[in-house]
Amino acid sequence: MTASSTSSDPSSPSASATAPEALAAEPSAPVAFPQDRTCPYHPPAAYDPLRATRPLARITLFDGRPAWLVTGHAAARALLADPRLSSDRTRPGFPVATARFGSPRRRRTALLGVDDPEHHTQRRMLAPSFTLRRAAALRPGIRRVVDGRLDAMIAQGPPADLVAAFALPVPSMVICSLLGVPYADHEFFEEQSRRLLRGPSVEDTLDARDRLDEYLGGLIDRKRTGPCGDGVLDDLVRERLREGGVDRDELVALAVILLIAGHETTANMISLGTYTLLRHPDRLAELRGDPALVPAAVEELLRMLSIADGLLRLATEDVEVAGTVIRAGEGVLFATSVVNRDDTVYADPDALDLHRPARHHVAFGFGVHQCLGQNLARAELEIALQTLFARLPGLRLAIPADRIPFKPGDTIQGMLELPVTW
Ligand code: HEM
Repeated sequence: MTASSTSSDPSSPSASATAPEALAAEPSAPVAFPQDRTCPYHPPAAYDPLRATRPLARITLFDGRPAWLVTGHAAARALLADPRLSSDRTRPGFPVATARFGSPRRRRTALLGVDDPEHHTQRRMLAPSFTLRRAAALRPGIRRVVDGRLDAMIAQGPPADLVAAFALPVPSMVICSLLGVPYADHEFFEEQSRRLLRGPSVEDTLDARDRLDEYLGGLIDRKRTGPCGDGVLDDLVRERLREGGVDRDELVALAVILLIAGHETTANMISLGTYTLLRHPDRLAELRGDPALVPAAVEELLRMLSIADGLLRLATEDVEVAGTVIRAGEGVLFATSVVNRDDTVYADPDALDLHRPARHHVAFGFGVHQCLGQNLARAELEIALQTLFARLPGLRLAIPADRIPFKPGDTIQGMLELPVTW
C-alpha cells in the first residue's frame, strides 16, 4: 500500500471495466481489499472483475483473512438494513480493513461501533440536532464561513492549496460551531484525526485516539463544571450528562465520532469534488450555467466518488443473499464505490451525469447507521462548490493532474493536496 497515489489516467476508468471479456470472467482468486485507486474518482481498476460477479465476491483482507464483499446495489441495501449484520467492533472476528484498526486495545465506541438498542438510544439523542430543518437553519452560517475562507484565499493570491485553504477549514469551522468545540484548537484535532485515519503506524493511531479522548474529555468536563454554550455538546452536557442520561465516557466517544466524521469526510468531498469537476469541464460549464443543478450535482458526485469505500459488518447469524449463504461469524464489507456503479441501477455508471436521478446511492450508507450528518454534509457541499466556482470563474489546476497526490485506498478517499490557481 502506498502512502499516497497519483493518477495515471484521471479521465477514464480502466478500459476493462466494460469489456465483454471482463464481464464474462470469474475472478480466479479472491481480490485483495482495499486497494489504492488508480484515478481518484474511480474505483481501483483492480476491482473491475468484481463488477462481473455482483452482488457478492470473496476478498482477502490485509491480514490474510477472507471476507465477503458486497458489490450489488439491491444486496447492499438489503444487507445494510439487516439486523443480523453487526457493527459492534468488539465482537470477536469483526473484520478489520487495515492494520491501524486491528489493535486489541478496547475503547469505548459510539454510534458506528455499536448495535441496537445502545445505538438506537444514542442516535435518538442526537437526531434532533441533524435534521433537514436544522441543516437549513445552518445555511447562512455556512455561507459566511465559505465566503470568509474564499476572501482569505483570494487576498493571499494564487496559487493555493485548496485543501489547506478551503476544503478542510470550511467543514472544520462548521462542525466546531455546531458542536461547541473551539476552532482555535483546529490544528490539534485535525492532526489527531489525520493520524487516527491514516497515521504511519498502529501506535500512532492509538496515540491519536488517546489524545482526542483526553482533549474532548477535558472540554466536556469544563462544560459540566463551568458555563455552557449553545453547541450540541453543550446541550448533551446540560440535558443528559448532568442528569445521568449518558455517562462521561459515552459522551466522549460520541464527541470523537462527531468531530472526526463531521470534518474529514466533507473536506474530502469538497477537494475531490472540485478536482472531479475541473477534470470534466463540460459538466462544470453546465453547472455554472444553471445553479439549480447544484443539488443534483452534489448527489451525483457523492455517488460517483463514494469516498467512504469499505463499510464493515460481521454476520451474527447465517444470512442468505442472492442464493449465497453468508455464515455466522463471517466478515462482510461493502464496496460503496462498486455498489454505486451497479449498471442495473445507473445507466453508464462511470460517467458524471448531472441529470441522473442519483438518489438511493449508498455513499452515506443505508439502514440504521446511515450517515447522521448527511443533511449537514449536503448543505456544506452545495454552498462550498457553488460559491467556489461562482467566485473564481478561472479556477484551474496549478500543476498537471497526474502529479496531484490523493489518498491511499485504506482510508477515506480524497485529495492530499489540491494546488489551484485562478
Ligand atoms: C460528504 C460527507 C460524508 C460522507 C460521504 C459520510 C459517509 C458516511 C457513511 C458511509 C456512514 C455509514 C457508515 C457505515 O454504515 O458503516 C456514515 C455514518 C456517520 N456519519 Fe457520515 N458522512 C459524511 C459527513 C458527515 C458529517 C458532516 C457528519 C457530522 C457529524 C457525519 C457523521 C456521521 C455519524 C455520526 C455516523 C454514524 C451514524 C450511526 O452509526 O448511526 N458524517 N457517514
